[in-house]
Amino acid sequence: MEFKIFQPGNEFLKTKFPIICGAMSYISTPELVASVNENGGFGCLAGGNMSAGELEKQIDRTRELTDRNFAVSLLTISPQFHEQLYLCQWKKVPYIIFAGSFPKKNEIKMARESGAKVICYASTNEIARRMVRYGVDALIIEGDEAGGYVGRKGLNILIQEILFDEIKIPIFVAGGLFCGKLAAHMVMMGAAGVVLGSRFAASCESGAHPNFKQNFLRAKARDAVVVPQFDSQLKVVPIRTLRNGALEDFYKLKEKLLKKLKKEKISHTRAQKFVGAYWIHALRNAALKGDVEKGALMAGQSVGLIKKEQSVKEIINQLVSEIESEMKRVKGMVDDL
Ligand SMILES: Cc1cc2nc3c(=O)[nH]c(=O)nc-3n(C[C@H](O)[C@H](O)[C@H](O)COP(=O)(O)O)c2cc1C
Repeated sequence: MEFKIFQPGNEFLKTKFPIICGAMSYISTPELVASVNENGGFGCLAGGNMSAGELEKQIDRTRELTDRNFAVSLLTISPQFHEQLYLCQWKKVPYIIFAGSFPKKNEIKMARESGAKVICYASTNEIARRMVRYGVDALIIEGDEAGGYVGRKGLNILIQEILFDEIKIPIFVAGGLFCGKLAAHMVMMGAAGVVLGSRFAASCESGAHPNFKQNFLRAKARDAVVVPQFDSQLKVVPIRTLRNGALEDFYKLKEKLLKKLKKEKISHTRAQKFVGAYWIHALRNAALKGDVEKGALMAGQSVGLIKKEQSVKEIINQLVSEIESEMKRVKGMVDDL
C-alpha cells in the first residue's frame, strides 16, 4: 500500500497491509493463519479452551507453513490460560493477544519478557490507559457489532472514547468491518489497522465446517444477536451468535441451574462453570462438527454482508483495492478544497 498513513500499522505488525484476521476458536487453523500471512495480512491462532499440548501443535504447524509473524490470542477466562501463557513464552510466540477480559500487570510482563509484542482489548478509556501503564504494545478496540465474545458498546462510541484520545500506542479497530472503504476511513481517523473476523470465518481456508459457512452466507445482520443476561446470579460474558437452537438450549440450561441453585442442589461455582463452558462447547459443535441446529454459530453483524465464499487472497486483494481507491478519492477531494 503506497500511502504513508499505513506505515505505523505495517511496521508494528511487520506486514504489507495492516489487516488482521482476528483469532477464532476452531476456525483459525494454522492453514488460515498462514494464508492470511502469505497474502500480506496478519493471522492469529486462537488459544480458546485448547490444552497447551494442542496449542503447541498449532504453533509448530503454523511455523511450518509460514515464516512470517503471527499472534496467539489467549482467553484470560479459559481454564487453560496460564498453561497457554507459559507455552507461548517458551515457544517465543512473536505476538500475544489477551482477550476475554483484562490481563494482570505481571501477565503482560511475562509475555513481554519472552520478547513478544503484547496486544490487549480495551473497552473503556480507563482500561486503555491502564493497559498502556502495564506496558502493552498495542490495543484493539472492538465494537459489539463483532462476533464471538463482545463488549457492550458499538465501535463508533469506542472510537470517540479511545481512538480520538491521543493514546500513544497503535490502536487497531474491530467489530462490524467488512469492506475496504470503511477500513480506509478507520485508518484516516487514526487507527493503526483493522481486525476482521466474521468475513474470514466464511473464507475458503477457514477451519469452519461447510454447514457453518453456508449459514453465514444465508444470515442477515439482524440474525446475529447478543445473548442476554436475564438473571443476576449466573454471569454470562456477552456473546454475539446467530439465533438458533443453541440459544434456546442455553436458556433452558440456565433455568435448570437457577432452580437447582435455589434448592441448594448445586454450588454457585459449579453452576457458573456450566454456564462458562456452554458456549465454547457449542461453538465446537457448530464449527467442527457442522451442527448448525444446536451448535453456536458465533457471528458478527457483518455476516449480513457476506454473500459468497471467497479465498483469503480474494478477500485481502478486494480490501486493499477498495482501501486504495477510497484513499485516492479522498485525496482528490482534499486537493480540490
Ligand atoms: C466464530 C468466531 C469465534 C471467535 N473466537 C475468538 C476467540 O477464540 N478468541 C478471540 O480473541 N476472539 C475471537 N473472536 C473475535 C475475533 O477475533 C474478532 O475480534 C471479531 O470477529 C471481529 O469482529 P467481526 O466478526 O465483526 O469482524 C471470534 C469471532 C468469531 C466470529
